[in-house]
Amino acid sequence: MASGTDALILALRACGVKAGDEVLLPPFTFVATSSAVSALGAKSVFADIRPDTYNLDPSELERRVTPRTRAIIVVHLYGLSADMDPILAFAKTRKLPVIEDNAQAIGASYKGWPTGSLADAGCLSFYPTKNLGAYGDAGMVVTNSAEIAARVRTLRNHGQSAKYLSSEPGWNSRLDEIQAAILRVKLRRLSNWQRARQSHAAEYNRLFSQIPGVMPPLAPDGFEHVYHQYTIRIEQRDALHKFLGERKIGSTVYYPYPLHLQPLYSALGHKAGDFPHSERAAQEVLSLPMYPELRKEQIARVVDTIAEFLKC
Ligand SMILES: Cc1ncc(COP(=O)(O)O)c(C=O)c1O
Repeated sequence: MASGTDALILALRACGVKAGDEVLLPPFTFVATSSAVSALGAKSVFADIRPDTYNLDPSELERRVTPRTRAIIVVHLYGLSADMDPILAFAKTRKLPVIEDNAQAIGASYKGWPTGSLADAGCLSFYPTKNLGAYGDAGMVVTNSAEIAARVRTLRNHGQSAKYLSSEPGWNSRLDEIQAAILRVKLRRLSNWQRARQSHAAEYNRLFSQIPGVMPPLAPDGFEHVYHQYTIRIEQRDALHKFLGERKIGSTVYYPYPLHLQPLYSALGHKAGDFPHSERAAQEVLSLPMYPELRKEQIARVVDTIAEFLKC
């Protein structure tokens, strides 16, 4: 695909989502997850996250499902899998397809299985900042379903089921060849880069264990985190963000506005308090420097600076 967003749009379409349908998804994610739903004329129905993992809370699904629900999108945010077993069990009872937004979690696993292979279709983004990044936009749909694969191949190429024979409206969303060539070379290095990220995360965790007031990211047993982001949670988030910036340490808030409070979705009529865990996360999360080439002394400097902030 030409991007991760296109991967989501075409996977949803291939799973049968069309105008007027509802799709369940968490409100604490990048807007691309829901704009893919909007692109098909379907409606995003939000289901809150768990406060400890920032991923979809499976127990929310039952509350939010309606007779118009046509699919579920789970997001493996920051590089950590959502808790898939209960989500898949729910989807099975309702006969709903599940699409994994795996844009941030290539290489992650859940109970030994790679994210993206756990549900009906997995969507990858190779945007340059991702753990496997191209030099421009690129994306992919992975699936074990021959039917979904065939549908996506047709949809990404103008709905052509044979050369110059179109059977339905489609898109032009082929993966650019230059990007494909770059990704093929970089793919060989992904597991080394992943190990480097995991070792940096372990070092951050070790240092943060001495610092009360900072909640490091959680990786429950059986969940292999790939740390697309190393995201801490802290009450004085905005002040810390500023403090780090003044000391030339980069940090970013992914994401400051939960989707249900975005102007884009004002017509859905949501208000503050509707999805409290997503809203609190949006106020308290901060992603710290994380990339394979990061050095131990840089990690120590970040953590020392946060410790200095907390003593102020
Ligand atoms: C969670 C999530 N979903 C979807 C996307 C969309 O991917 P792309 O930018 O390749 O369209 C991104 C990244 O940008 C993302 O982080």
